[in-house]
Amino acid sequence: MKWGQEPLNIGEWRTLARRRLPKFVFDYVDGAAEDGLTLRANRQAFEATQLKPRVLRDTSAIDTSVCVFGRNWRLPIGVAPMGLNGLVRPGGDLALARAAAAAGIPFVLSTASNERLERVRQDLPDAELWLQLYVMQDPSITDQLLRRAKANRFDTLVLTVDVPVSGLREQDLRNGFRLPFRLTPKLLADLVCHPGWSLRQAVAGQPKFVNLVEEVGRALSAQAQAALLARAMDRGLNWARLDQIRQSWPGKLVVKGVLHPEDASLAVKAGVDGIVVSNHGGRQLDGGVSSINALPALVRAVSGCIPVFLDSGVRRGVDVIKAMSLGATSVFVGRPLLYGLAAQGEDGARRVLSTLGEELQRAMTLMGAADLHDVDGATAHAGNFQS
Ligand SMILES: Cc1cc2nc3c(=O)[nH]c(=O)nc-3n(C[C@H](O)[C@H](O)[C@H](O)COP(=O)(O)O)c2cc1C
Repeated sequence: MKWGQEPLNIGEWRTLARRRLPKFVFDYVDGAAEDGLTLRANRQAFEATQLKPRVLRDTSAIDTSVCVFGRNWRLPIGVAPMGLNGLVRPGGDLALARAAAAAGIPFVLSTASNERLERVRQDLPDAELWLQLYVMQDPSITDQLLRRAKANRFDTLVLTVDVPVSGLREQDLRNGFRLPFRLTPKLLADLVCHPGWSLRQAVAGQPKFVNLVEEVGRALSAQAQAALLARAMDRGLNWARLDQIRQSWPGKLVVKGVLHPEDASLAVKAGVDGIVVSNHGGRQLDGGVSSINALPALVRAVSGCIPVFLDSGVRRGVDVIKAMSLGATSVFVGRPLLYGLAAQGEDGARRVLSTLGEELQRAMTLMGAADLHDVDGATAHAGNFQS
């Protein structure tokens, strides 16, 4: 993409983000675990999934909406939880939440957000906001987060279960990525080459994990921040502990990071309200199955009892159709929103969502699907076409 050109698709938003962000930030956003096998598998599997369009169907009016947990989403896309959005741009969590609300879709605020959940709710009193939970070694963090989420009408809790330890992100190690930043000659050179980003961060101050503490203004120690970055998770988290969370959480409970069909069945038995088929965008187990290839077996395993969401690798509107053809209720999108945010702030995030929405509309029209119920299992096949 040439300088000055407007991005046409998510790949071009990524190019723009790469130009605007210091290398250590871009690598944190874009990177994956170890050799990037699962990261690449996510895209390869989407690319290998083919659709069988229908013809001679009336597509003069296209409806992209879905109903999830009794609420209408204008697009079958949610904004995935991402930590440290403030590093991409100060106020990043609010910018993404506003972009999602403007598009009529839910926003999932991360445990590792740089904005307090109270502040996001205050800014968007009517928006559909979900909270993602990392169960950390200190149980009081979970207790107070659930209490505050309830009080602030975050009616869906997304329990992330694929991070008992952090995946090995070697690029972050090579870049010396840590909080608080330590100014090295290499980092300084990176900052000088990206004056827009550096200036904004200098004015706002380094992003902090403000959502973790109950009282406003109580600063988290540098060690606690470092622990969160290294993700001091409760490795004892198991189905029994999930049951306790289920008992103490009155809202919807969605488990994120499920890839094995037996775990999907166990999730149904445990009384969860939904699962997200996800490999964390290839940032955790390198060598894990791609989400889109894992999806059909998980859809079979839950046999319609609960919605099955999918994330990891969605980059085009047509990918949304592929996921829904294979039984997903909707998808969630991660990095593309951060590319938009990095390039053009909230406006960039909104434009990323519009791009995906427009691509989805066109793909539905070409599929002969006036609404998303017309996209069914007969139209997609992971891998080679047999029939
Ligand atoms: C920078 C970044 C931070 C993330 N932080 C979290 C997080 O705090 N909690 C979580 O459950 N998932 C987190 N994820 C994973 C996303 O929720 C999602 O599973 C993944 O990004 C989807 O893949 P995609 O980026 O290919 O769309 C993060 C992903 C990225 C890229």
